[in-house]
Amino acid sequence: MTTVIATINLKGGVGKSTTTVAVAETLSAVFHKKVLVIDLDPQTNATTMLIGEEKWKKLNNEGLTLAQLFKDALESDGRARTFDIEKTIQKGVSNVADVQNLDLLPSSLDLIDVQDRLAGMSSGRFYAENPTDILRRATRSIIEMYDLVLVDCPPNLGIITLNGLRISNGYIIPTIPDILSTYGIPQIVKRVGQFSDTIGENIDPLGILISKYRAQSTTHTNVLREMKRKADAPLFETIIPENDKAADAADYAPVSTLRQKWGYQGQYDRYVALTKELMERAGV
Ligand SMILES: Nc1ncnc2c1ncn2[C@@H]1O[C@H](COP(=O)(O)OP(=O)(O)O)[C@@H](O)[C@H]1O
Ligand SMILES: [Mg+2]
Repeated sequence: MTTVIATINLKGGVGKSTTTVAVAETLSAVFHKKVLVIDLDPQTNATTMLIGEEKWKKLNNEGLTLAQLFKDALESDGRARTFDIEKTIQKGVSNVADVQNLDLLPSSLDLIDVQDRLAGMSSGRFYAENPTDILRRATRSIIEMYDLVLVDCPPNLGIITLNGLRISNGYIIPTIPDILSTYGIPQIVKRVGQFSDTIGENIDPLGILISKYRAQSTTHTNVLREMKRKADAPLFETIIPENDKAADAADYAPVSTLRQKWGYQGQYDRYVALTKELMERAGV
């Protein structure tokens, strides 16, 4: 059985894409898992971290992104089906040579448009009968080829995010420990719970990940203390501190090892620890 894990927060800039990519690369390089990243965020950060800007532009021009899948679904008569999953999946991605078994379904800025059109459409007009089932139908033939699939979601609970949750067994909520970033967490847990009841499948809150933590910040230490006392989902024990190397790691430049990518200040070890915790919680 493939384990599918979504990364979600209603706030942008909290480390969702960085976490998705770091965990995916660690699963591949350190734990020798076969991994697929599905990038559903129109910001395309996970995509450009894994294949670089140039390659992404080329794929985008050729219609080889997930935007095409949703565009097809918007054609109510189903004539213009051009999404080709075999051509769209990018095999053996990542700028880290040690990462061997990582594939990507790339995102596109066009998903912004698609999302608006999906939201404005009545469900009867979809070619696929259920608008939250589009991704599941398209990927069911390939999902089982992977040990784990990570889904990077946009910062909202719209139809595209629900498509990601539809195929997920669990989800992670990365957050900066401040008021604005943690604000939407109760709502996420509640809404995902409702959606999980509706579809009759478990989507477990695997944990809240404290990211970009600054130990010198009074807000960060206070919010973290409060969350340790009471949170809407279990916290991961591993905390990801704010670190310049983490921001540099978004750059698609070739490196040999993950240690090289994350530097020598403990960031690599933290991502290994986080990935271990995640595997335990997800039962992998
Ligand atoms: N631990 C970290 N320390 C410093 N910068 C980080 C860290 N994690 C992520 N960043 C940077 O913060 C920004 C937002 O991160 P990102 O993962 O893209 O967030 P999201 O996907 O939630 O919008 C990016 O510029 C990223 O490089
Ligand atoms: Mg992102």
